[in-house]
Amino acid sequence: VASLRIRKAKALKGTLVPPPDKSITHRAVILSSLANGRTQIENPLLADDCMRTINAFRTLGVMIEIVNGVALRIDGRPDGLLEAEDVLDLGNSGTTMRLMLGVLAGQEIYTVLSGDRSLRARPMRRVTDPLTRMGAKISGRGNGDYAPLTIIGSSHLKPIHWELPMPSAQVKSAILLAGLFADGVTSISEPSPSRDHTERMLPRFGVEIMRDGLKVSVSGPAELESTSLFRIPGDPSSAAFFIVCALLLPRSRLIVKDVCLNPTRVGMINALKRMGAKIEVEEVRELDGEIVGDLVVRSSELKATTIEEEEIPGMIDEIPLIALAASFADGRTSIQGARELRVKESDRLKAIRRELGRLGAKIEELEDGLVIEGPSSLKGSRVNSWGDHRIAMMLAIAGLLSKGETLVEDIDCIRISYPDFEKTIMELVDD
Ligand code: S3P
Repeated sequence: VASLRIRKAKALKGTLVPPPDKSITHRAVILSSLANGRTQIENPLLADDCMRTINAFRTLGVMIEIVNGVALRIDGRPDGLLEAEDVLDLGNSGTTMRLMLGVLAGQEIYTVLSGDRSLRARPMRRVTDPLTRMGAKISGRGNGDYAPLTIIGSSHLKPIHWELPMPSAQVKSAILLAGLFADGVTSISEPSPSRDHTERMLPRFGVEIMRDGLKVSVSGPAELESTSLFRIPGDPSSAAFFIVCALLLPRSRLIVKDVCLNPTRVGMINALKRMGAKIEVEEVRELDGEIVGDLVVRSSELKATTIEEEEIPGMIDEIPLIALAASFADGRTSIQGARELRVKESDRLKAIRRELGRLGAKIEELEDGLVIEGPSSLKGSRVNSWGDHRIAMMLAIAGLLSKGETLVEDIDCIRISYPDFEKTIMELVDD
């Protein structure tokens, strides 16, 4: 397994065009694969996670062509997917597994889903319970909670109303997708809003979505119509690494182009602004149902803040970076209600505390959050990603901010969401 050697940087300068959004790419591939007709997806993310979704649909009989490495051409299969001859290996991708379960709940085929060690340890009952209630037959390891999972769907599911115990876009989306194959109205309520890309995208494929506060519903059976062209904006969760780096390195100025600024994704930017971050938003516009803009980020003196439970879904993947920023901020930052981080690609609360701790950050781990005492001056050391792409990249950024040299071990996982990450560091860093 590869490691990455990082030295302290002087400044971050230049323009970043972040990689395409991972969540939106997954959904665009899924809806195009189910739609009647051909869809061209421009600027898809072709990193490992999204390739898992693409290859899973190919195995299930959907024609997906990668055009010049920058677009996808998908001929949907609205009359039903084909049974796969083998297990679908979904690698590290939780989004593929959960959303795919929603799709397969509506298909009259037998499918076996598995993935890497991390994915096989992630809880699935949150999805399989409602889908079973709708009429899918699902079984799995550990009383049905873990992959490998088998599923036999039905094209006549029962509509349900489901109250999510925690905010989760993956669970919400899985139930909405199954709702396309139900006879009647399926609805879902969340305790607070998670990312709403599925809700924004379904109408582009001709499916009406009803939204009422924290409740969303879809009426089935629904037929999807292809959309000739669908464009994917930049991923704010990938841009986040360089945003935090530019804020924390002196004399830095970073322009971020064409990044998704969907209000359900900008929790980190809002929290950082409250901490004193100089982040300006420019050229806000709409792109195929999403909100997109440019950012100008400048070095800033940060002060501590408190992050409450309701804010967590809007920055769910950025908590490692909030913890890093808080280590440089003046005062005590507390992050609460973030229990979900324990069941991501790794136990992120533990990984953050251990690995940032090795660099000298003062972090206390709570059952459902973190308390960070700043400012600390970090010092280079040997750290490990725990096989988690977001921890690996956060530690590489921490290395750019730490005295001396940092060795980040086990960085192969970066390909999951940001294959060009190392190259981008070299382009933007002044050393
Ligand atoms: C995702 C939703 C989030 C997020 C994950 C991607 C999605 O998970 O952490 O990286 O694409 O729907 P949960 O919805 O389970 O919190």
